[in-house]
Amino acid sequence: MSQLSIERIPTGVKGLDEILRGGIPRGFVVAVVGEPGTGKTVFCIHFIGKGLEMGDKGIYVTTEESRESIIRQAAMFNIDLRKYLDEGNLVIIDALMEERGDPWSLRELDIEELLSKIIEAKKYLGYGHARLVIDSMSAFWLDKPAMARKYSYIVKRRLARWNMTILLTSQYAVTTSLGFGFGVEHVADGIIRFRKSVLGGELKRFLVVEKMRQTDHDKRVFLIDIVNEKGLVVLGPYNISRGEISLPFSVLAKMLSAELKKETELMSGDLEGSDLENNL
Ligand SMILES: Nc1ncnc2c1ncn2[C@@H]1O[C@H](COP(=O)(O)OP(=O)(O)O)[C@@H](O)[C@H]1O
Ligand SMILES: [Mg+2]
Repeated sequence: MSQLSIERIPTGVKGLDEILRGGIPRGFVVAVVGEPGTGKTVFCIHFIGKGLEMGDKGIYVTTEESRESIIRQAAMFNIDLRKYLDEGNLVIIDALMEERGDPWSLRELDIEELLSKIIEAKKYLGYGHARLVIDSMSAFWLDKPAMARKYSYIVKRRLARWNMTILLTSQYAVTTSLGFGFGVEHVADGIIRFRKSVLGGELKRFLVVEKMRQTDHDKRVFLIDIVNEKGLVVLGPYNISRGEISLPFSVLAKMLSAELKKETELMSGDLEGSDLENNL
């Protein structure tokens, strides 16, 4: 297949579309991976919001935050999810909700129940291309990480004929990456990895497209930021050394504790002779 015949889906993040030479190929299953707080959910919200703006349907499965929290987060970036919900173009499946009677919640974190709910949502939304986000898949194998690969495969296979482009998020901390399983990455057509690192005493975020089948893409690590009103922005390529971005945990822990010590010392310095100290 030539590059030209691939239909691409803009992600909602302009800088990332450039990295992807136009966007994510339609129909792909893309793994969005990274530690907590790296920007995965924010990215997924952009992806859904952009689709809705373009006339796609949207299905957002949230396992770690409530439906209301997703709506509020989107509103901070001027994406009005409530409107699309009311219009019947969006379904947010809230896996945390325990209220009975809500048609779009899960009784338990079960992969079969998830799939039938997603298919029910697709039927409800009707004909046409849909963007689906499952944020996160990790929630479905919390107590059985060995199932990660199988569950990811089932999701991909069962949803293949439903005219969807899919983001599956997966999260793990540096210490627990092995325990959480790498299922999503194994079955995905693409992998977008989010990273964070404390550099010069400040939290920095990065993204890198590690894989995107059937297409060329930029291989560099990009510095990103999350900005009020705008959301995720790509600031530019970052010349980061391998050592910096994949530090072993022991080194990271040492760096953090040194950082903390520095901060504590600074603070106690500030307190000396200050009004605050006098009031203590
Ligand atoms: N309105 C906002 N303005 C600036 N930064 C924000 C805003 N909303 C969220 N963020 C940033 O996004 C981060 C959360 O990112 P998120 O996508 O939820 O991470 P995760 O990878 O865990 O899904 C917050 O820690 C904060 O730094
Ligand atoms: Mg999240």
